[in-house]
Amino acid sequence: MLACNRAIIARMESPVPLIPQLGAHLVAAGGKRLRPLLTLASARLCGYQPGPDHQRHVGLAACVEFIHTATLLHDDVVDESTLRRGLASANAVFGNKASVLVGDFLFARSFQLMTADGSLKVMAILSDASATIAEGEVLQMVVQNDLTTPVERYLEVIHGKTAALFAAACRVGAVVAERPEAEEEALERFGTNLGMAFQLVDDALDYAADQQVLGKTVGDDMREGKITLPVLAAYEAGSPEDRIFWERVIGEGEQTEDDLPHALNLIAKTGAINTTIARAQVYADAAVEALSIFPDSELRRLLIETVQFTVNRAR
Ligand code: IPE
Ligand code: IPE
Ligand code: MG
Ligand code: MG
Repeated sequence: MLACNRAIIARMESPVPLIPQLGAHLVAAGGKRLRPLLTLASARLCGYQPGPDHQRHVGLAACVEFIHTATLLHDDVVDESTLRRGLASANAVFGNKASVLVGDFLFARSFQLMTADGSLKVMAILSDASATIAEGEVLQMVVQNDLTTPVERYLEVIHGKTAALFAAACRVGAVVAERPEAEEEALERFGTNLGMAFQLVDDALDYAADQQVLGKTVGDDMREGKITLPVLAAYEAGSPEDRIFWERVIGEGEQTEDDLPHALNLIAKTGAINTTIARAQVYADAAVEALSIFPDSELRRLLIETVQFTVNRAR
């Protein structure tokens, strides 16, 4: 992870000072580095033996984090979010234009890291995932404010915007270790299910977290009229009066200051957070199950711990 961090900082360099400046703001703010961890751990789980002159897993872990960071920069512009990783978001500090353009730069950097790796197979996995993320974000925008969105459609959105990159992060680990297809597939299944659990929990935290700990603004999803499982569950289980509230706030996007506390009450009353976490747990169990083809090892235990962290996390 230290080597990966070093790679991230090194590849953030550019003769255009605003790029490393904005990059440093984001990197200094931290981030959990979950996706690069998955790449590194998957490679090692599959027995990849790095040497002084071959550290493919490190370059690809950095590449995955660059893709992630690029999407965060763009996502915060689209979502008009002002808090990220416990600090003012890049768009709040540097403006939307800088965030979009530096996001493009980081995304381009990820292509360079893929070509430096040299494997067309890796490139196919990561570029497919990048396209899928964009599709997920676009689909999410299309169903925004639409309370008739079926849960299946919501699951499609979170698969695209989040689970696809988790899956790719894991799969490339198996690819660098040159393991049989079955192991690649098992790790991809692990990543997909973990990513689904991760985003479900993220969507619960958007209504239920301690903002200080989360490092993002609670209630952002409501303000945006985002269709997430907490809202769909509260809407479905709500009284006719509750539904009128959701239709105004999410459907029409007409909100006042008192709406968030009321929404939090309705979400609590209907058990919508529990419904969401229970769904996440189903995916988490499937993620753990996907690892069953690997013999017990420290790395497998680390990955299982990562699943538990994902469901129980507060940030
Ligand atoms: C945030 O991801 C974007 C989502 C998919 C919810 P993380 O919560 O992994 O973000 P950082 O990198 O730790 O800040
Ligand atoms: C993040 O979705 C997904 C991507 C960045 C592709 P969210 O919009 O839910 O993530 P946060 O809550 O802003 O981190
Ligand atoms: Mg967002
Ligand atoms: Mg979110």
